[in-house]
Amino acid sequence: MSDTSSNQMWGGRFAAGPDAIMEAINASIGFDKRLAAQDIAGSRAHAAMLAATGILSDSDAKAIREGLLTVLSEIEDGSFEFSTALEDIHMNVEARLKELIGDAAGRLHTGRSRNDQVATDFRLWVRDQLDAADAGLVALIRALLAQAEAGADWVMPGFTHLQTAQPVTWGHHMMAYVEMFGRDLSRVRDARARMNESPLGAAALAGTGFPVDREMTAQALGFDRPMANSLDAVSARDFALEFLSVASISAMHLSRFAEELVIWSSAQFRFVTLSDRFSTGSSIMPQKKNPDAAELIRAKIGRIFGANVALMMVMKGLPLAYSKDMQEDKEQVFDAADNWMLALAAMEGMVRDMSANTSALEAAAAAGFSTATDLADWLVRETGLPFREAHHVTGSLVAMAERKGCDLSELTLEEMVSVKDTITNDVFDVLGVHNSVASRTSYGGTAPARVRQQVARWKEILE
Ligand code: ARG
Repeated sequence: MSDTSSNQMWGGRFAAGPDAIMEAINASIGFDKRLAAQDIAGSRAHAAMLAATGILSDSDAKAIREGLLTVLSEIEDGSFEFSTALEDIHMNVEARLKELIGDAAGRLHTGRSRNDQVATDFRLWVRDQLDAADAGLVALIRALLAQAEAGADWVMPGFTHLQTAQPVTWGHHMMAYVEMFGRDLSRVRDARARMNESPLGAAALAGTGFPVDREMTAQALGFDRPMANSLDAVSARDFALEFLSVASISAMHLSRFAEELVIWSSAQFRFVTLSDRFSTGSSIMPQKKNPDAAELIRAKIGRIFGANVALMMVMKGLPLAYSKDMQEDKEQVFDAADNWMLALAAMEGMVRDMSANTSALEAAAAAGFSTATDLADWLVRETGLPFREAHHVTGSLVAMAERKGCDLSELTLEEMVSVKDTITNDVFDVLGVHNSVASRTSYGGTAPARVRQQVARWKEILE
C-alpha cells in the first residue's frame, strides 16, 4: 500500500491517506511499542476466549495465537519493522500478523476495539511497574535496616529547622525513612489491588453483542475480575494517575533523603562518606568527590510530579468515553516509571555503600547544647521544678556556657549552682549524648533499645 492510500485498518470510508503532519501528530508507535508484550498477551487471551466461546474457529485461534508469538519474538530480537503509518502498537502487531498468517488475522479484532485493547495493555504495563516498585522499595528498606542495625547506638544530632535540636541515634534516623518507604510500599500494594481489573471486552465503549467471556480473559491476564462498566473501562485512567501519585510521594521521600545525603557528605558536615561507585569527580578540581547520584535523585521528583500534573490536566474535562487525548497518558507514565525505578535502585546502592563517620556524628551530636532538654527534664524530675521554670533555668545555663565558649557539660557544678542551687553533681549524667539517647525510651523514641525493636519488627514484616 502506498503512502497516499487510506489506512488499511480503518480507511474504508476514506478516499485519501493522512497528511504527513496528521500522521506525525497521530502516531503513537514511537512510544507505545513499549506495550508490545502486553498487547500480544492481551490478544492471545482474547483469541483463546473467542475460540472457547465459539466466536472463532479453533484453527483460526491457533494460527492467531502462534502467529502472535512469532511477532513477539521478532519484536524482541529487533527484526520487527515498526511503521508510523500503522499508528500504534496494536495496528503494527495486527498488520504483521496478517503478513504471517493471512486473512485469519482479520478475525482477531472481533468483539474488541483498540479502546479496550489499549486500556488493557496499559493496565498490564502499569501493574508490572507497581511490582517493580514493590521490589525496589523492599530492597531499599532492607538496605536501610542494615544501616539501622549497624548504627542503632551511634549518636548524631537530630535537627529541627536544620538547627541542632536533640541527640538521636543513626539507627533512629535510618528507621524514619524505613517508615516513609514502608508507607510508599503499602500505597503501591493498595494501588495494585485497586487497578487489577480487566477492561477487555468493553469493546469501543458500549460492550459487544458477541457472547464474549470477560471472566475468562480477565483470569488469563491475571486480573481479579472484569471491570463492571464498559464506558468506565475504556475511559478510566485513574489507575495511571494513582501510579503517578504514589510515585510522586515516593520520589518526594527519596528527594528528602537525597538532600540529607548531599548535606551530610559535604566537607562541613562529614557525617557520611559515599562510595566511589555512587560519586563522581570534577574535571577541574582534583579534590572533589561529588554526590551526583543523590543530587539526581533529589531532582527526579520534578519530572515525576510533572507527569502526574500533566496527565491530570489531560484527563480533566474529558467527556466519556474514549478520546484521543488519552493517548498522551503513556509517555508521562513511561518516563515517571523509568525514573522512579532508577532513583529507587540508585538510593538503595548508595545506602548500602555509604559509611557513617561515627566520630564526626558524635562530635556534632554534642555540639549546639543538644542536651539542654535533658537538663530541663532532669530539673523537673529530680528537683520538682515545673517544666516552664526548668526551661528558663536551662536557658540561663545555656547563655552562660555560650559566654564561656564551652558546652553545657563543661560548666562546673559551682557555676550551675549559682543559677539554681538545687542542682547536684548527678546532673552531669544526663548531659552526655549517649545517656540522652538511651533515656528516650518512649514508644517510637530514639533509644537504641527502641530502634532495635523497630528493626526486628520490620524484618518480620518483610519476611
Ligand atoms: N493509540 C491509541 C491510544 O494510545 C489506541 C487507541 C486508539 N483508539 C481510537 N479510537 N483511535 O490511545
